Amino acid sequence: MTLQLIATCGLGLEELVARELTDLGVAEIQTQRGAVTFRGSWQDCWRANWRLRTANRVLVELGQWPGEDGDALAAGARALIGKRQLYGRSGPDVGALLSPDRTFSIRATTSASRIRDLRWAALKVKDGLVDGQRDRYRRRSSIDRDRPDLPLRVRLHRDRATLTLDTSGEPLDRRGYRVITSQAPMREQLAAACVLAADWNGSGPVVDPMCGSGTLLAEAAMVAVGRAPGTLRANAPFGWAFERFPSFDSDAFARIREESIPAPGPDVELYGIDRSPQAIGASRANLARAGFKDRATLTTGDAFEFIPPAGPGLFLVNPAYGERLAEEPLQWKRLGDLLKRHYTGWRAVVLAGGDTLGKPIGLKPTRRIPVKNGPLEARILIFDMY
Ligand SMILES: C[S@@+](CC[C@H](N)C(=O)[O-])C[C@H]1O[C@@H](n2cnc3c(N)ncnc32)[C@H](O)[C@@H]1O
Repeated sequence: MTLQLIATCGLGLEELVARELTDLGVAEIQTQRGAVTFRGSWQDCWRANWRLRTANRVLVELGQWPGEDGDALAAGARALIGKRQLYGRSGPDVGALLSPDRTFSIRATTSASRIRDLRWAALKVKDGLVDGQRDRYRRRSSIDRDRPDLPLRVRLHRDRATLTLDTSGEPLDRRGYRVITSQAPMREQLAAACVLAADWNGSGPVVDPMCGSGTLLAEAAMVAVGRAPGTLRANAPFGWAFERFPSFDSDAFARIREESIPAPGPDVELYGIDRSPQAIGASRANLARAGFKDRATLTTGDAFEFIPPAGPGLFLVNPAYGERLAEEPLQWKRLGDLLKRHYTGWRAVVLAGGDTLGKPIGLKPTRRIPVKNGPLEARILIFDMY
């Protein structure tokens, strides 16, 4: 069976997700705003959930139809169940998948559409789907908002509805290693994006001199040793939604989990510094949970006083820039000076936000990727410190 799949992601991460998907060998990869579409089998879908470091979720497309008003939305959903045919060239039989024996839930999003009320949009699609089930089976599914068998999503864009099945369930940033968070932690996908954007060859130590809860160090270590981001999640109580689908084959998924992943830095060493002892405590707990305790040297101290280990290696930082606005340019300049003084030959990645987006650093980045850090504008800046 060939599925039309969608990996959703934060704005700005589309190219990195597409590159990860290319490495997974899937077909017809196309980037959109905040998503990358591709074609593949259920196995490709499970592998994407297991391996993608920079995506939020993996969805399977189940149908598209015009949804300019409530009646059209419901009628399209009803027809989808009644059709008794595959969706797409050789896709899933949506009516069989949505059997009345399975519970489902629906979440809606809308953009540039006449219908703006999300709950109403979800309700109309639900009405259509259960009417379609009654037509075909004389019975309907129960709705389960907390732990449905089938978590469905409907996206209305320009008055057109797309129904998808969320195969991830909990978003993919729930890796399972963050047991304690410090102030302003970054999302795991963004941390992984910083590492992947660096095109690091895996050699040398990794330093984060403002490490907070250790997210950048953990993501760098997982890339270096070839550890899938889903590793700890495989034993977590929430797992992935696809494990509850009728198409799931646990033996095939076990084989996917055994596949080897390139490990460019199997002996990587991690150095984390933070001026907050609580942050160092969080990093210690999280890196231990991630299985990197023996590789990590974590110290309470000032980023600007820290003398790095012999390099070159990878420098990663998501700084706290200027508690007072007026201080921001000076803080960035200090960071630029630090890189020039102590990190010659290193590759440096700075997740820069704030008012100036890191411009006062005073170094020319080799690469600059506009991203969102939560709701805030940010830039991933890559520097080669010659
Ligand atoms: C935005 S947070 C980093 C979050 C981290 N990337 C994470 O995912 O948890 C910035 C961190 O920099 C630390 N910090 C700020 N100024 C510092 C300095 N001069 N030296 C060391 N740490 C500093 C703060 O204590 C804070 O933990």
